[in-house]
Order: sequence, then C-alpha cells, then structure tokens
Amino acid sequence: MKIAIASDHGGYTLKNYLADHLKEQGYTFHDFGVFSDESVDYPDFALRVAEAVSSGEYTLGIICCGTGIGVSIVANKVPGVRAAHCHDTFSARMGREHNDANILTLGERVIGRGLAVEVVDAFLKGKYAGGRHACRIDKIAEIEAKYLRQVEGR
Ligand code: RB5
Repeated sequence: MKIAIASDHGGYTLKNYLADHLKEQGYTFHDFGVFSDESVDYPDFALRVAEAVSSGEYTLGIICCGTGIGVSIVANKVPGVRAAHCHDTFSARMGREHNDANILTLGERVIGRGLAVEVVDAFLKGKYAGGRHACRIDKIAEIEAKYLRQVEGR
C-alpha cells in the first residue's frame, strides 16, 4: 500500500506528526508538502494528493488543513476520489468499509494528535466490504462520468 500525504499551513504540524507515525508503523508513503508553516492555498496541496490517488499511483491519501473541510471539498472534485472527512474512528472505519473512501481528511484545529493517530489507523486498517455497497459506489462513478461527459461536450 502506497500512501500520499499533504497539508496546507493550517494542517502542517498534524501532517508531520502523522508522517512520523506512518514511518514508525513501516508504511510506504510520500509527503507532497507543505514543508513550512508559511501561508499557502489549500487547494494546491489537496490536489497533489487527490491526483496521486486518482491516477492509481497511490492507494490511499491523507490530507490535513485547519478544519479538514477545504481539502475534502477539493479532493472530492477529482474523479475517482472518495474523500472522507473524519474526526472519529467509527467514521474512518465505515468510510473504508461502506464508501470505499480512498482519502482521509483531518483538521489540525479540530482534533488532538492522539485521536488523529487512531483515526488514521482505523482508516488504513479498514477494508471495503463490497457487496450491497458496490452498486452505490458505481452510482457515484456514474455521476462523475455524467458531468465529465458534459464538460467534454459528449
Ligand atoms: C487556513 O487558514 C484554513 O482556512 C485552512 O487550513 C482550512 O481550514 C480550510 O478549510
């Protein structure tokens, strides 16, 4: 499993903390920035992870900002991304099991580090259940395809 991580300045400290955790746990991951707490625009960094996951190069992504909301909105604009904004372990696990979520978003200004690590672990260890959920995931893909066709004029 290859994991892509990123943050804006608002999620910089949490992202680094989670990167240390991933390293300790032996996960393979790439940090797409930021690398300082200088103010940036969160769409730029959320997009890096969203495209890395959408392309299939990375299996899962984790993106942090101040609230986790902005990066979630951005990531969910990219076809193939199903970003789950979670601050509890139940949602993180269910996001994987039911929604086949492939990106987790977190807010540094919302959640403590200890819980954030547990949320990340629940997300990474969660397994998509398939079955009755598959047709719902297919419907999400159909919605994406409908709007992509409109954009392309097909
Ligand atoms: C940055 O101040 C903040 O707006 C950003 O990190 C995030 O919370 C946006 O959703």
